[in-house]
Amino acid sequence: MTAKVLEVEDLVVTIHTASGVLTAIDGVSFELHEGEVLGLVGESGSGKTLTGRAILRLLPSRRMAIQRGAIRLNGEDITKFDETRMRRVRGRSVGMIFQNPTSHLDPVMTVGSQIAESIRFYEGLPRKESLVRAAELLRQVDIPDPAVRLSSFPHEFSGGMRQRVMIAAALACRPKILIADEPTTALDVTVQAQILRLLLGLRERRGLSIILVTHDLGVVAQTCDTVAVMYAGRLLERAPKRNLLRGTLHPYTMGLIASQPGKGKPREELPSIFGQQPSLSDLPEGCRFHPRCDYSEAQCRAAVPPLEEVDVNHQTACRRWRELAKQKILGAA
Ligand SMILES: Nc1ncnc2c1ncn2[C@@H]1O[C@H](COP(=O)(O)OP(=O)(O)OP(=O)(O)O)[C@@H](O)[C@H]1O
Ligand SMILES: [Mg+2]
Repeated sequence: MTAKVLEVEDLVVTIHTASGVLTAIDGVSFELHEGEVLGLVGESGSGKTLTGRAILRLLPSRRMAIQRGAIRLNGEDITKFDETRMRRVRGRSVGMIFQNPTSHLDPVMTVGSQIAESIRFYEGLPRKESLVRAAELLRQVDIPDPAVRLSSFPHEFSGGMRQRVMIAAALACRPKILIADEPTTALDVTVQAQILRLLLGLRERRGLSIILVTHDLGVVAQTCDTVAVMYAGRLLERAPKRNLLRGTLHPYTMGLIASQPGKGKPREELPSIFGQQPSLSDLPEGCRFHPRCDYSEAQCRAAVPPLEEVDVNHQTACRRWRELAKQKILGAA
């Protein structure tokens, strides 16, 4: 196993609202190693983006706060850092591709200036050298004629190219970690595959570690080494990709896998998990998934199931995993 570059431990993020304090992220823990691609999956609203943004301390609202927990970057807890040190982390240690790329590119500034500006800001390089580096970055993300494209504006690129530009911008200061929030969701399948290949190539060449936020288990299958499954702000399962996709030990993950489109499964015939994720203001007692779980019992409603180590690097937060595996409902077939 390679060196641990990031460790999130018992992260709690709260939202202050008029009617009280809501817990959006509740005790999430995971780690990321050098060169690892970790998939963060779960339905819409499960807390994937907030987890990614919390790592950069860029929560989307001032009513949100990291209430508890540690985020260790190479062993140092960045939740204790002041804003000056955090800015350095954002530039040099952790890059982020945000969920909606267009809203994070300035429409009236050329792509070259946008990338070069961050290089000047974080590394103090003169303008000319920053632009040379920006062109090199565009080349690395396979933009044709990079030197010419420096003076293009974001709207002059296609969706897939804009996403490449976002990747180039996130990598401008050579971070060791990249958080990519749904980097391929808006793209067609071919372009999606190209972007994923590009990310994997960067991992190979630079030893980049990647947190890939996605709701698409097909993307996970193609790209990730390990997977963490979120539900209503909690982690329900964590495992190496193969163990998770072929032998999940959580009924929620099983439902997610069953509801993915695949070969011979027309979209309209896919089973979906009954019901909806609970609202943060009305969370059920015990396991948050129990109201939607076909296998829930009194014990599931009574207490929060801990994330239990069930195999090497495989953890699940289901109290019934052992029984369900014995009955061949869960686990490897
Ligand atoms: N700016 C905000 N103000 C208030 N609540 C928010 C805000 N952003 C997110 N939330 C709430 O926090 C929870 C987690 O949201 P988050 O954006 O992390 O979900 P997600 O897993 O990224 O979903 P998606 O797949 O739709 O992007 C949700 O309940 C959401 O409603
Ligand atoms: Mg999101």
